[in-house]
Amino acid sequence: MRRPATADERALYDAAREARDRAYAPYSQFPVGAALRLEDGSIVSGANIENASFGLTVCAERTAVFSAAFGGARSFSAVAVAGHDGLATLLPCGACRQVLAEFAPAIPVVHLYEGEVVVETLDVLLPDAASSALLA
Ligand code: THU
Repeated sequence: MRRPATADERALYDAAREARDRAYAPYSQFPVGAALRLEDGSIVSGANIENASFGLTVCAERTAVFSAAFGGARSFSAVAVAGHDGLATLLPCGACRQVLAEFAPAIPVVHLYEGEVVVETLDVLLPDAASSALLA
């Protein structure tokens, strides 16, 4: 169920807003930042990195997940995503939901919804995610 963000979740959202400044988005002009809270409390962030071959663009959330995983993280406690200020609603795309679910299938997702910073859990946003259990 969608609920307002806590103070800590708002801090993570602010980290996503800062990460947004490091986006490479010359084609869409739509910079996005993402921030992951790791289990030890630290934050790993990312931004969207676009490409002249548009389909090769990587979203902010996946940049953050791959960076955190490469750094050794294997689970997260929350994720936040931020587009430009003044945007009403922004949620991770389906591909990013699946990539997040690999490491943290039910984490709080902090995002804008109709002008408010709110939280919804990933399992609600992506029911029946592909998981290693399906490969058994
Ligand atoms: N984008 C993200 O990075 N994350 C989202 O949650 C939504 C979309 C990026 C992809 C592309 O570079 C630009 O925003 C426009 O879709």
